Amino acid sequence: MGIREYVGSEFAKILPELSLEQINTIIEAPKEKAMGDYAFPCFRLAKDFRRAPAVIAQEIAQRAESLDFFEKVEAVGPYVNMFISREKLASIILEEYNASECFGSSKEGAGKTIVLDYSSINIAKPFHIGHLRTTVIGNSIHKLYQFLGYKTVRINHLGDWGTQFGKMAVAYEMWGDPQLVEQKGIRGLLELYVRFHDEAKEDPSLDDKAREYFSRMEQGDEHVLSLWRKFVDISLKEVSRVYDLLDVQFDSYNGESFYNDKMERPIQELKDKGLLVESEGAMIVDLSDSDMPPCIVLKKDGSTLYATRDIAAAIYRKETYDFDKCIYVTAFDQGLHFAQVFKVLEKMGYSWSKDLVHVPYGLVSLESGKLSTRGGNVVFLEDLLTEAIQKTRDIIREKNPDLDNIEEVARQVGVGAVVFHDLFNNRIKDVTFSWDKVLNFDGETGPYVQYTFARASSILRKAQWAKTEMNKINPACLIDQYSQDLLKLIEIFPQRVREAADKLEPYIMTRYTVAVATAFNKFYHENSILGAENEELRAARLGLTAMVAHILQSGLDLIGVKAPEKM
Ligand code: ARG
Repeated sequence: MGIREYVGSEFAKILPELSLEQINTIIEAPKEKAMGDYAFPCFRLAKDFRRAPAVIAQEIAQRAESLDFFEKVEAVGPYVNMFISREKLASIILEEYNASECFGSSKEGAGKTIVLDYSSINIAKPFHIGHLRTTVIGNSIHKLYQFLGYKTVRINHLGDWGTQFGKMAVAYEMWGDPQLVEQKGIRGLLELYVRFHDEAKEDPSLDDKAREYFSRMEQGDEHVLSLWRKFVDISLKEVSRVYDLLDVQFDSYNGESFYNDKMERPIQELKDKGLLVESEGAMIVDLSDSDMPPCIVLKKDGSTLYATRDIAAAIYRKETYDFDKCIYVTAFDQGLHFAQVFKVLEKMGYSWSKDLVHVPYGLVSLESGKLSTRGGNVVFLEDLLTEAIQKTRDIIREKNPDLDNIEEVARQVGVGAVVFHDLFNNRIKDVTFSWDKVLNFDGETGPYVQYTFARASSILRKAQWAKTEMNKINPACLIDQYSQDLLKLIEIFPQRVREAADKLEPYIMTRYTVAVATAFNKFYHENSILGAENEELRAARLGLTAMVAHILQSGLDLIGVKAPEKM
């Protein structure tokens, strides 16, 4: 039972006129601290009680004097403001915390499956910081749902099909040096791609050749497919280094190519259901009744498109995983694409189309301007992460030169800083990447939260604290303001997790960890922990420190950031 439920049942004792349910719907959390922990507005009672709300509030406050659950209950106008006894508050939260195996987690998702389509990079293109967002948002959503007991299926829907691979194959055959490409990886492929575009300006027949190559791919031509496979291998080998750095995994890499032989059936189905109509030679699904441009399913030359593959993919996923929800994390500019695909599936009669969710996010730019592959202002994610690690290593060497495993910690902190920064705001908000903001050890950053966790861990280490000591805490020792602020923050952890999962907003977790870290640092500066005046006080403060450490670690993990114990 949480604090709010306790408040409800206490009020039920003095308000026999109302049911517990009625009471619970009236209780609210006031916006300002001065108005107490909870408030009971009396407006709605005026009719039944036949008195003015302010008079009712007076009476309820008087009745509440008999409850020792509260330190103070006062009527302010039509409100009854309640201040919970500090000792009671501490004891309830400790009880709640001790009762759960892993505080904040739950089994509410048991038996339910969430399919998550994220990262979904384009093969042979740079894995740049634009794709960082979908990767870390998706990874965090996966962690959140897993924490709530759901089964997740993580899919990297690779952009590995389409005319650009025809271009690449032509370029590779004409100018590619296999050894050099192998060595240069994606950068080598990119050079070929750029060269193709330059040369095609002079010689448009190259474009025809590329189209021909792609159509050979679609028909299963072994020679072109073997080139294509080479590009996929080179790319995956390289991006897997980035995934390792981020510690992000996938259950499936079934990308666009995977659906090459799975589109026929939905296309036939669209025809049978009378949904496919011809327009200027192309085959489309008319969506004018939903105020959307038509969804093009087949081009004039009969080839399929991105949308065609997504229609087939959704059906395949439903049949394979029987998901309760299928979530797609991409930049907001794909909003129309997904709205169209979801609508087409709805028109096909798939009632589960309502379970398809597009999770959009804003753009990333550098302080030096917008990203663009063609304009050359592209930052490879691997370079950025490597630089973050390098910079962190320098800072640690200066601050803590004796640290044992500097390499490992620098990696966890450097990468964590980048991820944390990316997940700091509402996802739809654009992000401007700035080194100062990312690596600041004092601001609202990843290193700050990690450092606070390391501080808490070091205190526990010095005290040789053990989990069994959690049961021996006297709540009366945690009634000072700093302990109380921390306890109240701890209590809302499960709520914040659920909220972040419901809204598909990792930033709720990011901000929460900052709030806990800040409250802990205040507590730490105001209260002596290891040197507390007496044993009982020391034990209670250590217990609180352990709760904070556990919550910071869980909170960071939920956004995909590591928590080193020393840094
Ligand atoms: N590869 C696409 C891109 O980079 C994202 C794919 C998203 N997933 C999907 N099923 N369409 O823009």
